[in-house]
Amino acid sequence: MHTRIRPNQITVISIAVGIVGGLLFSVGSYAATSAGALLFLFSTILDGCDGELARLTYRESRTGALLDVVGDNAPPHVDGFAEVASRMDASGVAAIEINLSCPNLDGVPYALDPVLSGDVVQAVRACTRLPISAKLSSDARPISAVAASVAEAGADWVVVSNTVMGAAIDPETRRPALSGLIGGYSGGPIRPIAVRSVLEIAKDVPGLPIVGCGGVSNGPHVVEFLLAGASAVAIGSIHFKTPRIAKSMTKDINRYMARHDVASVEQLIGAYEPW
Ligand SMILES: Cc1cc2nc3c(=O)[nH]c(=O)nc-3n(C[C@H](O)[C@H](O)[C@H](O)COP(=O)(O)O)c2cc1C
Repeated sequence: MHTRIRPNQITVISIAVGIVGGLLFSVGSYAATSAGALLFLFSTILDGCDGELARLTYRESRTGALLDVVGDNAPPHVDGFAEVASRMDASGVAAIEINLSCPNLDGVPYALDPVLSGDVVQAVRACTRLPISAKLSSDARPISAVAASVAEAGADWVVVSNTVMGAAIDPETRRPALSGLIGGYSGGPIRPIAVRSVLEIAKDVPGLPIVGCGGVSNGPHVVEFLLAGASAVAIGSIHFKTPRIAKSMTKDINRYMARHDVASVEQLIGAYEPW
């Protein structure tokens, strides 16, 4: 293959385009964010070409490989969310949930910072007209500030919440339960924490739909989240133990509604009785 273009030139152009895209994201307007998303997409396409060209023209080099790694990390990380959202949009999915709160990655989860969380949601919003939600962390204080920020940035609803940071050590072996020592805990013990988060967001950000999540393992737990202000409920860890749990939960909820003369689940949303 004969071409005067060198692979490293493509890598440098790809980095420059990615950085300009990132800078446009930081401007904040809809037009600038949309342009930023397009430029970032273009930069990822270029990023896929340099290595191929190097192989086809026998110009692979250590400098080129190093430059490629630098390029992958130079643009701001929000661009990565925008790229994935663009691809998901094109794939025909019905909605996109943005996990801002993964506890197992390096660095601080986006969900602990209202500004970073808003930036990510804004970047994704600029790439798609699909409904989008943001998955938050109960570790954020105050979580309402993060919820308000993502709502303003264009999230249609929030999922509250992801796992809660914790640790456990076995006295017999003296080993931590998690290989990383500290990490995300799920299941029953986190339910009161997640319910508290739902209550706070329902009070502080009225009108923002909430999907409650954390420690749900039966119908009354679902009702608890609804009463706190969630309009839907997600179920995680209990599926590992009882994969078909949703069926018995639905029965529980129907029995509860019959017993309390509730005609529609919607009547339960935010309907807790204060002391
Ligand atoms: C093993 C495991 C893997 C998980 N992976 C993800 C994930 O990839 N993305 C995500 O948003 N949440 C993930 N979560 C969080 C759950 O979706 C859920 O928000 C959390 O566990 C609290 O709900 P639960 O107590 O019903 O499990 C994971 C949880 C567990 C236990």
